[in-house]
Amino acid sequence: MTDDDQQLRVSKIRNGTVIDHITGGQALNVLAILGIDGTSGESVSVAMNMPSDRLGKKDIVKVEGKELSQNEVDVLSLIAPAASINIVRDYEVIEKHRVERPSVVEGVLECPNHNCITTEDEPVQSRFAVVEDGVRCEYCDTIIRDNLPAHILAD
Ligand code: CTP
Ligand code: ZN
Repeated sequence: MTDDDQQLRVSKIRNGTVIDHITGGQALNVLAILGIDGTSGESVSVAMNMPSDRLGKKDIVKVEGKELSQNEVDVLSLIAPAASINIVRDYEVIEKHRVERPSVVEGVLECPNHNCITTEDEPVQSRFAVVEDGVRCEYCDTIIRDNLPAHILAD
């Protein structure tokens, strides 16, 4: 079976965003980055560990009526570096781009240092530099190396 045949297992969407070529097994972490837990009622399809020529296995997330912010895309690229973002209008893909590794990620992640200014009751957004072995808080220099998804800010 080709990639295309497999993708037909999940129906097409009318308006919204399809995140394709997600690293196999990362779909639920992608949903966490997007702040989607299902309770706000949007239609979401998730396919996990689908056969992919390019990746071996890939996940796909389709969200009706949602466009991603650049901050969300930036963090997403760290856990799914081969992902493509497809914007769908009236069933057609009107825009497609691959994610790129950013040099900085803002918002979305929470600094693990409880004394960091970004985790106090201050209106300071988190800001991390993307470094070789993880991401480094630009305020307190704490480095998150492992398990990035555990540091996604709850909405
Ligand atoms: N898609 C969808 N609903 C639509 C249109 C597209 O869910 N109305 C999905 C497709 O199933 C596919 C992704 O969006 O997973 C990209 O669609 P398309 O560009 O048509 O597919 P490909 O050319 O196979 O994409 P790529 O080259 O990026 O692999
Ligand atoms: Zn910090």
